[in-house]
Amino acid sequence: MSLDPTRPCAEALDRDDPLRAYRERFHFPKGARRAEALYFAGNSLGLQPKKTAELLAQELREWADRAVHAHMAARRPWVPYHELLTESTARIVGAQPAEVVNMNSLTVNLHLMMVSFYRPTPARHCILIERGAFPSDRYAVVSQLQFHGFSSEDSLIEIAPRDGEDCLRGEDIEAAIEREGKRIALVMLPGVQYLSGQAFDMARLTALAHKQGCIVGFDLAHAAGNLPLALHDWGPDFAVWCSYKYLNGGPGAVAGCFVHERHARAAQLPRFAGWWGHDKARRFLMEPQFEAIPGAEGWQLSNPPVLALAPLIASFELFDAAGMGPLRAKSEKLTGYLEYLLTARLADRVSIVTPRDPRRRGCQLSLRLHGGAAHARRAFDDLLRRDVVCDWREPDIVRVAPVPLYNSYVDVWELVEILRQATKEHP
Ligand SMILES: Cc1ncc(COP(=O)(O)O)c(C=O)c1O
Repeated sequence: MSLDPTRPCAEALDRDDPLRAYRERFHFPKGARRAEALYFAGNSLGLQPKKTAELLAQELREWADRAVHAHMAARRPWVPYHELLTESTARIVGAQPAEVVNMNSLTVNLHLMMVSFYRPTPARHCILIERGAFPSDRYAVVSQLQFHGFSSEDSLIEIAPRDGEDCLRGEDIEAAIEREGKRIALVMLPGVQYLSGQAFDMARLTALAHKQGCIVGFDLAHAAGNLPLALHDWGPDFAVWCSYKYLNGGPGAVAGCFVHERHARAAQLPRFAGWWGHDKARRFLMEPQFEAIPGAEGWQLSNPPVLALAPLIASFELFDAAGMGPLRAKSEKLTGYLEYLLTARLADRVSIVTPRDPRRRGCQLSLRLHGGAAHARRAFDDLLRRDVVCDWREPDIVRVAPVPLYNSYVDVWELVEILRQATKEHP
């Protein structure tokens, strides 16, 4: 259907949307001026599925009614509770079930993975990341270098966008891997960069880095539940992600972790072990010798936090019902529609930092509002006052993420209308 910048066009797009019913399955925050805020911050904290409270209440009831017996006798027994999520998680990230586990938080999992997969030698000790990586990732990476007696000056390689550009060029990353490959122990990149919204060609980068003998890990915080992934086929050694953004697992939700099948039985890999990673059949024999479960579960430390995992069950049911393929199809259309409106109506006031090629982005568009950082900040504050929920990243970026599970075309149309007003008043 051909696009035009009118509201009836947005309404027609919504009528044609096969996923439109999913919006009703979420709670939207209340606005000050409107019943429901215009929510575009799913890249930061996804909305709460309406079923979350029911699932949580069920586990609270189990605790009240059965207490310790719920570990084995609950409707969903607590001992293997995390396993309820395995199949859905594998579908979301394109993995085999044994390659994924939900545990801890993203940064903790990143450290656990680096303990096993960052094995520096005097000749090969560098870690390659992107300049401007999410701070927690950089802190984790630098602290791992230091833990092994290396410094960031000697062992951290940060690839930056070219002068005057916001996104990395694929060819520059590839050139760096080829140039420095023999010194690089670990290539650690995002699936989608949190600030620019740029998506990387994970299959290609993995193959290139492996050719150079490097280990490859991905931070998928902004990719999981946003882009269809094929981790098993692409072949990175590990990946980590959080579940409170596109996966709608709630604040500080239990994170995800992928370890490629080829490492499932790698007994020689060092790891920080805990009893929940120990052979399930023998766990309660309380033996002193650790025997890792083959696969990602072998990296678990502690027993599953049932109350924190319950919201993921509510959310993953929706992903299973909608499917990553249809979600991505809507996402490309919805974000493309936002791009169309911004270009048609606001090109003189707003630039899009995120790549224009849909294959190089997920649903998020990062915007730079013209007129300098102070003006941009005032316009952003104005958006908040008008009940638009999106986020600000220093020094001058506004990130907006139309999420295909719960955002509509009319949401996007209204966002652009409000952005027009906000940028007009603060030129
Ligand atoms: C790209 C990226 N990496 C890492 C993190 C840190 O996650 P956590 O606090 O769950 O460790 C975040 C949090 O927003 C993130 O966006």
